[in-house]
Amino acid sequence: MKRMAVVLAAGQGKRMKSKLYKVLHPVCGKPMVGHVLDTIKATGCERTVVIVGHGAEKVMAYIGQDAEYALQETQLGTGHAVQQAKALIGGEQGTTVVAYGDTPLIASATLQGLMELHEERGAAVTVLTAVMEDPSGLGRIIRNAEGELVKIVEQKDCTPDEAAIREINTGIYCFDNAKLFAALEEVTPNNMQGEYYLTDVIGILRGQGDLVLAYQTDDASEAIGVNDRLALSEAEAYMRARINKGHMLNGVTIIDPASTYIGADVVIGADTVLHPGTILKGKTVIGEDCVIGPASEIEDGVVMDGACVKQSILSQAQVGARTTVGPFAYLRPGTVLGEEVKVGDFVEIKNAVIGDGSKVPHLSYVGDAKIGKNVNFGCGAITANYDGYNKDITTIEDNAFIGSNANLIAPVTVGKGAYVVAGSTITRSVAENDLAVARVRQENKPGYAEKIRARAKAKKDQSSPS
Ligand code: UD1
Ligand code: CA
Repeated sequence: MKRMAVVLAAGQGKRMKSKLYKVLHPVCGKPMVGHVLDTIKATGCERTVVIVGHGAEKVMAYIGQDAEYALQETQLGTGHAVQQAKALIGGEQGTTVVAYGDTPLIASATLQGLMELHEERGAAVTVLTAVMEDPSGLGRIIRNAEGELVKIVEQKDCTPDEAAIREINTGIYCFDNAKLFAALEEVTPNNMQGEYYLTDVIGILRGQGDLVLAYQTDDASEAIGVNDRLALSEAEAYMRARINKGHMLNGVTIIDPASTYIGADVVIGADTVLHPGTILKGKTVIGEDCVIGPASEIEDGVVMDGACVKQSILSQAQVGARTTVGPFAYLRPGTVLGEEVKVGDFVEIKNAVIGDGSKVPHLSYVGDAKIGKNVNFGCGAITANYDGYNKDITTIEDNAFIGSNANLIAPVTVGKGAYVVAGSTITRSVAENDLAVARVRQENKPGYAEKIRARAKAKKDQSSPS
């Protein structure tokens, strides 16, 4: 059976009080509509139509080629919204899922279960329902004495008896595509809100003798529709718990899930340990047997097997296998660390490749550099890569030794096995195995300290006589 989807995302989202269009608000780092589309994709839908209206350009720009679009110029209700997809998929035969772009928690296993029941039973519509502690504002599921779904009544159209029902319409459905678009023709806006309700299709199909089913999820959080920032934070908390649980079941140790924030698309290998205060964002990939945190933030980073990152911030940086980073390192975009590298405390690295076995243990800045293997970059040594206009490259070849507090003024190359003595300011390249000294030669003046102290004391006594 061909599977399709219609995702409603035309509403304005006024209650978000935001410049950002509602369905683009992120939950665990990914826009809500992105979550919904990924879940739909996982159920094997061949065509997905997103109904756009408010903020259409921004929504389409985010989703791109992953969907087709239908514009709903004025928002006349959920039924009207789905109808906009008719020109695109109205002629298809198959199953159509309808979901909202602002219900990010719908799980693919639930959607799969809903579709399977619907297709096995050959239903005209199957509604995903949930039982809510507080059903206010939601459409109520009206069942007959046999327990069959008869119709859905919106809160504003409910009798007091209906309003007391706690089983609600999640707003997620499976339809027989042809029957959906035929029934939509019969929907009228004769209700309290003057809208074309998609929910009226259920009563219409049932009235014409079609099979109408309900599929109840026992996880009511899946139905959370985000209308304001409170619901957004609630969705975030549920999503975070779900993501953390998934990683733990895959063999990742999370010492304190409550203080561990993992983005929806992050990948983590087994036997990795995440310490409290770990934040993993974007497309970050962490290998196996790594130790991350405490207090580390990695965005779009790659950390290979057995590496360790403590109290550090990484952005678009790559860390090789068994390399250690931190505490208090800042790895900026373009950082590529090889295997068994050591980057220690108060080190900043930007746009630099550092070869296997090299060490930058303390208090260094390495920017726009190519550093070979087994290089020692002494305490406080830095690259001076910027002259106010240009960024120049520093190259340090294998086995070179850069003494403490050296300044390497780019562009400059230090050859293989060369030695730069501590405190040097290097402005010219150093050839292989040469030694470079670029500092004033030391002079010692015997007993001069006493003389200087006496002079200083005399000056003080003169300015403040006792
Ligand atoms: C809808 C359901 C209700 C269900 C609830 C679950 C109807 C009539 N009611 O109510 O039974 O319990 O969802 O959350 O369907 N949208 C458009 N175009 C429109 C109208 C809405 O794109 O013209 C989008 C909105 O942006 C939103 C979604 O559809 O994402 C739901 O619309 P909303 O008006 O909030 O429906 P509810 O009143 O919540
Ligand atoms: Ca220094």
